[in-house]
Amino acid sequence: MQLSHRIRDITLGGSDGWDVFYKARALKAAGAEIVELTIGEHDRKTDPAILRAMHQSAVKGNTGYAVVPGSAALRAAIARRVTKRTGAKTGPDNIIVTTGGQAALFAAHVAVLDPGDTALFLDPFYATYPGTLRAAGANAVPVETRPENNFEPTSHELDSVAGTARSLLINTPNNPTGVVYGPRTVATICQTVRDHDLWLISDEVYDTQIWDGTHHSPRSQPGMAERTLVVGSFSKSHAMTGSRIGWIVAPEGVIERLIDLSTTTTYGVPGFIQDAALFALDQGNALENTVAADFKRRRRLAIEALSGADAVRLVPSGGAMFLMLDIRATGLSGEAFALALLEHENIAVMPGESFGRAAAGHVRVAMTVADAEFASALHRLAAFAHRILK
Ligand SMILES: Cc1ncc(COP(=O)(O)O)c(C=O)c1O
Repeated sequence: MQLSHRIRDITLGGSDGWDVFYKARALKAAGAEIVELTIGEHDRKTDPAILRAMHQSAVKGNTGYAVVPGSAALRAAIARRVTKRTGAKTGPDNIIVTTGGQAALFAAHVAVLDPGDTALFLDPFYATYPGTLRAAGANAVPVETRPENNFEPTSHELDSVAGTARSLLINTPNNPTGVVYGPRTVATICQTVRDHDLWLISDEVYDTQIWDGTHHSPRSQPGMAERTLVVGSFSKSHAMTGSRIGWIVAPEGVIERLIDLSTTTTYGVPGFIQDAALFALDQGNALENTVAADFKRRRRLAIEALSGADAVRLVPSGGAMFLMLDIRATGLSGEAFALALLEHENIAVMPGESFGRAAAGHVRVAMTVADAEFASALHRLAAFAHRILK
């Protein structure tokens, strides 16, 4: 019996780009001491106060089926947050609560695409993007950005493919590059989207992790609210990755249809998780700033550690929990460099090639280990690259 094309084509049967990660995990399991700078998971756990709110809600009986679009209180709180942070008027009917940003990415694409429609996404990209778009039935087409442009898209790159497409997926602050799109890039994206009558899916799950500059949400630009679906999440802002809760902001008519989709898929997010998320939002900026502070500090440490490096260039970044390092001076591919670094220094980083063709010759570093270990790992990485150069 043959499975559907749609499910077989999610990975296209190739390598998933995580070989270095699996190798590092195997070495660790065998007793080796590996510094893991691979996945986007905080070293900080969910705040105990959030867990207490979750527990209290469950014990009080909020363990039955939840309201599918999300509780009225949580939808209102997310709407207030979005209005405050972006300036774009947003009400509870513009919000649906989802099982994390990942499910939101999938649902958003199902909402705006018919099977076979072309869905654009920018390369380098968060590793699940192409599979998510294909799972939604799309013809997933990467648009390569260039290191020379700090991996920000230009109007030429966008306009050359936009004519054939129905949607564009962007991500700022960006995983894997850490780049935050400035107002000019956001204006360019909005112009292309309006000119070619596209839907824009804007993944803003790192919006609380800004180290330089400001987060610009394209939905707040003129004429964009009616064609933009914003993906948000509690995973990164509140260190709640395992709670699986996020949201979509979209026009009311789109949210109504997304509720139909949720009814036929997840049937909503558990009520006690929603109550915990509401509690987390009620803490205001203080909690979000505490979670973000770890990465802000470590980015400084990285800038210092790499300041005199001759074989490694830090891609100028403004946010998120990652750094992209340009190691092309060593003459190695990102994958060869990452494998050699693991073998000789017991440091695991992700090859840039895992995130698309545009990041070839780069490696991604997750800032997710304690400060001293992190700084020491970057000093060793720079020294290792220097030895290859010689
Ligand atoms: C850019 C980006 N979008 C979405 C997600 C999905 O996050 P979650 O499903 O935990 O909300 C991630 C997770 O790493 C991410 O990096």
